[in-house]
Amino acid sequence: METNITSFDKRNGVKKNYDLIAKQYSKDFGTFIEDLDVYEEFEKYLPPNARILDLGAGSGRTYSYFNKRNYEYIGLDFSKEMKDCAFAIHGEFPYILDDMTNLKKYFNANSVDGIFAVYSLFHLPKDDLKKLLSDIYDILKVNGIFLFTYQIGPGEEMADEPYLKNKGVKVLYMNYQTNEEMKNLLTPYSYKKLYRKEKIETSDSAINSNSVTTAFVLLKKIK
Ligand SMILES: C[S@@+](CC[C@H](N)C(=O)[O-])C[C@H]1O[C@@H](n2cnc3c(N)ncnc32)[C@H](O)[C@@H]1O
Repeated sequence: METNITSFDKRNGVKKNYDLIAKQYSKDFGTFIEDLDVYEEFEKYLPPNARILDLGAGSGRTYSYFNKRNYEYIGLDFSKEMKDCAFAIHGEFPYILDDMTNLKKYFNANSVDGIFAVYSLFHLPKDDLKKLLSDIYDILKVNGIFLFTYQIGPGEEMADEPYLKNKGVKVLYMNYQTNEEMKNLLTPYSYKKLYRKEKIETSDSAINSNSVTTAFVLLKKIK
């Protein structure tokens, strides 16, 4: 792990990476909804006309799911190319182009019914993730829900971007959390756990050998 890389550099590397691979990524994932069960669980706890924030909205596959319902959906992502691809596929929709560490610039406390963050928080440096979890709790309404994924494991790394394989470009910052670490990260907050599933996936991670387990967690803010 390169310790001289700043938190900004790590996030900026991730942004550049997604700008670079956006077209290819969006071709594969722009409309491909996997883990439908997770979307359905999330929806179960939403009020009618819920305000949903999608953190790391990417090329818009989440939008394609929630758009069919009567929700106020807002995507947020810092990759301009991913946003352009999302609009090319789905047409324009509410989309904040910024780093999610700036979340509080856009949302007041107690103003969002549901936060959906699938395959995105693992790109946040650990200290930023800790701060983001506090911002998320703050902007969620009481009874609001938070769905997120994390990759189970120790440490962090600059990983190979799968789409840039064999080009020696190790720009993709990834954080991993042991279940104990995640439990500790969430300890300050009053959440009720509604749902959890784990999924084993192939991985290019050096520190997790050939596979990594993704945890999907759904929480409800109770006070
Ligand atoms: C693996 S993609 C997942 C996209 C989408 N959630 C999906 O499932 O298709 C990760 C996305 O998170 C975005 N992202 C990563 N770190 C971010 C940050 N700090 N602020 C905003 N977006 C970020 C990337 O630009 C990328 O679009």
